[in-house]
This record gives sequence, structure tokens and C-alpha cells, in this order.
Amino acid sequence: MKRLPNDEKHRILILGASGFLGNAIYKELCPYFKTFGTYNTENKQLEKNQHFFQYNFEEDDVYEILDIVKPSIIISALRGDFAAQFIAHKHVAEYISNHKTKFIFLSSANVFDAYSKYPSYEEDKTLSNSIYGHFKIKIENMLLRLPKKKVTILRLPMVFGPYSPRIKEIAQLINDKEPVEIFPNLIMNVTTHTKVTQQIHYIINRNKSGIFHSGSTDLVHHDEFIRDLIKVSGFNKAIYKRVYTTNDDRYLAVLPKYNMLPKNLQLLSQEILTELEI
Ligand SMILES: NC(=O)c1ccc[n+]([C@@H]2O[C@H](COP(=O)([O-])OP(=O)(O)OC[C@H]3O[C@@H](n4cnc5c(N)ncnc54)[C@H](OP(=O)(O)O)[C@@H]3O)[C@@H](O)[C@H]2O)c1
Repeated sequence: MKRLPNDEKHRILILGASGFLGNAIYKELCPYFKTFGTYNTENKQLEKNQHFFQYNFEEDDVYEILDIVKPSIIISALRGDFAAQFIAHKHVAEYISNHKTKFIFLSSANVFDAYSKYPSYEEDKTLSNSIYGHFKIKIENMLLRLPKKKVTILRLPMVFGPYSPRIKEIAQLINDKEPVEIFPNLIMNVTTHTKVTQQIHYIINRNKSGIFHSGSTDLVHHDEFIRDLIKVSGFNKAIYKRVYTTNDDRYLAVLPKYNMLPKNLQLLSQEILTELEI
């Protein structure tokens, strides 16, 4: 990857760097940039790491960390209470508009979950039926009012990786002999943490901004993909519960049309299964 000269090196702050994606992004960027991160849950190891700050958006003011780190790029990979998280993002947005700082926000395919007939593209109007989707749209709309060059919104489909919350949940259900829900009518695209982190690295190196749809270029049926994933991951036999939310096929897929990433940063769903194969 192309590197910036030292004096131009970015200072990057990852909010939620103890999480699945935040941590993967931290590991990807750390060798190249001055990278800092936040964690919320007590963690003895991170406590000793001078590049990590304990931060709870329900109690703490993000400005304190921003004042210390003085980031040129902030990446948000947070989860948690929507109202408090929105206020935290509002403070970050205010900081961005007053400083020479850029923002990368991890959004979700759920910003389109009210549409079911087609996959969604970057410039489609967002519309959601879910509380989660509404919340992501509210933050996106706030960020889209900032200068264009300062904001990147990365819309992600379901992200899979050995330590992803989704795979951990499946492993737990199988262990507890509880059914794993599969949605035979749901057509989606998927991605891995490795691809997402490489895409973010590219966006930073090439100084890109705007809306990116990050996910496999092919579409999969949820039930088939989850069955294949369980097979390759070496889990015990799973009990499945088929859930039909609609009579017809329903799409939840974010495909790129305008902001294409280079070929080596695109992926096929099969690559995810290969990555997870043991
Ligand atoms: N994973 C996916 O499939 C997927 C798909 C689409 C979009 N996304 C988006 O990607 C982002 C990251 O997802 P993820 O799967 O990596 O989530 P995750 O593993 O659950 O990580 C969430 C992060 O948020 C932190 N956090 C939770 N509550 C907090 C609070 N009250 N104050 C401060 N920090 C708090 C956690 O800190 P502690 O762990 O230290 O408590 C952790 O660092 C989210 O915005 C999610 O919506 C993920």
C-alpha cells in the first residue's frame, strides 16, 4: 500500500476499537498510522496500552479524547444505546466541522430495509422499517450535511469472520442445542472483516470520500449461506428454524454502481466460506 510521508502521517481515532470490526481496523492501520482507539468494557490489557482510552458514550464526553488525540481521521465502529450513540456522533460531527478532520462511519444495509424488490445502490434514497435502520439513517443524514470531502459512509451487509458477533452467536446456539434462524426468502450480499479493513485502508490512502457499498458482488440466499458457513466452520450439527417474513423473495443487499472499489478489494461470497474453512 502507498504510504504518506512521515510528516503527513494521519492520526487516526477508532471509536469502538475493542469490538469485532473496530479491532480489525485498528490492527490493519496500526503499522502505517498513529492509531488510537476506545474501549468500553473493562480490559486489563487495553488499560496498559497508551493508545487506548476507556470511553462510554452514555457517560463520557468524546471531546476529552478528541482533545488529546487530535485525530485527522475518526472512524466510528460503535454499537449500543441509540439515543446516547446519536448524541456522541453529533459531538463528533461538530468536531469534524470545526477541525481539519475526516470521518469514516460504518453504516449498514439496513438503511434500505424497507425496500425489498431490488438490491440498493449508493445514491438510492434510504428507507427503513427497523429501529436500527432508522438510527443509521439519522446519523447518515447528519453526516451528509457536513462538507462532502470530510465524510465517508461505508454501508456494510452482514460481516462474517471467525470472531464476528454473528458467528459467535451461531456457535453458542449450536452449543446450547438451540435452533439457528434462517431466512429462506432473504437475498443478501455478505462480506468479511478482512475485506472491510482493506477497503478502509484504501479509502484513507487514496483520500476518498462519499458513500461506499461494501459487500460481495454476488448475492446469496440467507438460508443456503448460513448452512454452508456452518458446514465449513466445523461446527456440530445445527437445528434450523426457517423464518418467513414475507411470501416473496426480499432483498437486503448493498451493491456499488458509482463508487467502485478496485477489483482486488471486491469479493465473492465463496471467498468468505474459504476464509472460514477449517
Ligand atoms: N458486524 C456486522 O455484521 C455489521 C454489519 C453492518 C454494520 N455493522 C456496523 O459496524 C459497527 C461495528 O460493529 P461490530 O460488529 O464490530 O460491533 P461489536 O463487536 O459489538 O463492537 C462494538 C463496539 O462498541 C463499543 N461500545 C458498546 N457500547 C458502548 C458504550 N456505551 N460506549 C462506548 N463504546 C461502546 C464496544 O466496546 P466494548 O466491547 O469494550 O464494550 C465495541 O468496541 C457498528 O456500527 C455496526 O452497526 C456491523
